[in-house]
Amino acid sequence: MAKRLIFNAFAMNSVSHVYHGLWRHPDSRQVGFNELGNWLDLARLLECGRFDALFLADVLGLDPAYKGSADTYVHEGLHFPTSDPGMLAAALVSATEHLGLAFTSSILQEHPFNFARKVTTLDHLSRGRVAWNIVTSVGDAAARNFGLDKAVPHDERYVWAEEYVEVLYKLWEGSWEDGAVLADRAAGIYADPARIHRIGHAGRRYRVRGPHQTSPSPQRTPVLIQAGSSRAGRAFAARNAEATFIVSLTPEAAAVAVADIRQQLRANGRRDDDFLFIQGLSFVVGSTEEEAWRKSRAIDEYVSTDGLAAHVSRDLGIDFGTLDPDRPIEEYQIEGLQGFVRFYEEAHPDRKATAATLAHAMSYNGRIIGTPEQSADQLERWQAAGIDGVNVAYQTMPGSFVEFIDQVIPVLQARGLAQRDYAPGTLREKLFAGRPS
Ligand SMILES: Cc1cc2nc3c(=O)[nH]c(=O)nc-3n(C[C@H](O)[C@H](O)[C@H](O)COP(=O)(O)O)c2cc1C
Repeated sequence: MAKRLIFNAFAMNSVSHVYHGLWRHPDSRQVGFNELGNWLDLARLLECGRFDALFLADVLGLDPAYKGSADTYVHEGLHFPTSDPGMLAAALVSATEHLGLAFTSSILQEHPFNFARKVTTLDHLSRGRVAWNIVTSVGDAAARNFGLDKAVPHDERYVWAEEYVEVLYKLWEGSWEDGAVLADRAAGIYADPARIHRIGHAGRRYRVRGPHQTSPSPQRTPVLIQAGSSRAGRAFAARNAEATFIVSLTPEAAAVAVADIRQQLRANGRRDDDFLFIQGLSFVVGSTEEEAWRKSRAIDEYVSTDGLAAHVSRDLGIDFGTLDPDRPIEEYQIEGLQGFVRFYEEAHPDRKATAATLAHAMSYNGRIIGTPEQSADQLERWQAAGIDGVNVAYQTMPGSFVEFIDQVIPVLQARGLAQRDYAPGTLREKLFAGRPS
């Protein structure tokens, strides 16, 4: 029997996420991203389709990163405005029972003491369904919104992230012992002070005395996801994360990325079964291959090439609206997101990534076009390359998810590649069910 794949819906509390320009499509409801009803409908749909989680990306600033200005981002609703993903996750708790709620939060945006408390609260309220996408925020705009002059240099951000998670682990894991909560009405003792500890963290950026303000939640530590793919990013993931979000361009390139990260995991004493590789893919489904390609071409009519270039420019910190989009990216000093270049070069070892090729890759690579059976065949190839699951990106919201769930999921279920029901327990237990612990 095949091992099942994990499926997350990849979304953002914003108008335009990955397929820039598609918000204008008549089937897209994404202009209504501030309407709770749209998200409740999506969450219920995902749960009917036995999706593992809704994964919410986030961005914290408006960079004038394309053509010397921020106008393209504003015109195209490109990650701006963006509403808070953690608050949205909280709003979906009571509408769902099993769906994981994975949201992004940057080390920039919140003091770890407060973040630990919020996550624990949400993990209590959702009965252990929270995952955290750990990000360090690329770009100067985010840094300037939090009192810095500019973005902290690339590798230094990961040093900061190490201390951030160290504080969190102390609060989540080391502050309250199991059994500290007694709730003993007869004795009049709610909790046992001898089993609650201060953490006394004194580091380079944080001083936190503790104890954790909130009693341990079902998962204590939320499921930890990390998407950085530079050398420092992968090293951080190998030390801390339980899942990494990769955007390899082909299954063959995914196998290279997986092998690289696995090697670092083993060097850190981690077991293969404790770590999940989640690949970003999107699907255009038709009852015939021809119909699927027709739909895909119709989607292309709405794709904004300017939007894609603006996205790549912002992430890399290089303005490809004014610089040469065909010049190899390695000739620039990148303080932004280095991982995209790495993914490109793992797929094309004989070529150098340029802004133009990255923008093209963002729209076309990982777009699986075909019948439900062909989509399932492709997923088998990705699985054989070592991936454990998929972050399903959408072209239209919620249409892409409706199609995937109505048409592809049943084929996957018949092949044992998608779960028919949820495993019991917390999100971590569901994700790792069936793997040796
Ligand atoms: C697939 C993918 C998704 C990401 N999602 C986010 C996000 O939602 N918010 C964010 O601030 N950064 C996001 N990032 C950026 C990473 O978290 C990280 O900060 C960035 O990749 C820089 O690290 P790197 O140079 O190690 O790749 C994402 C990166 C990748 C590859």
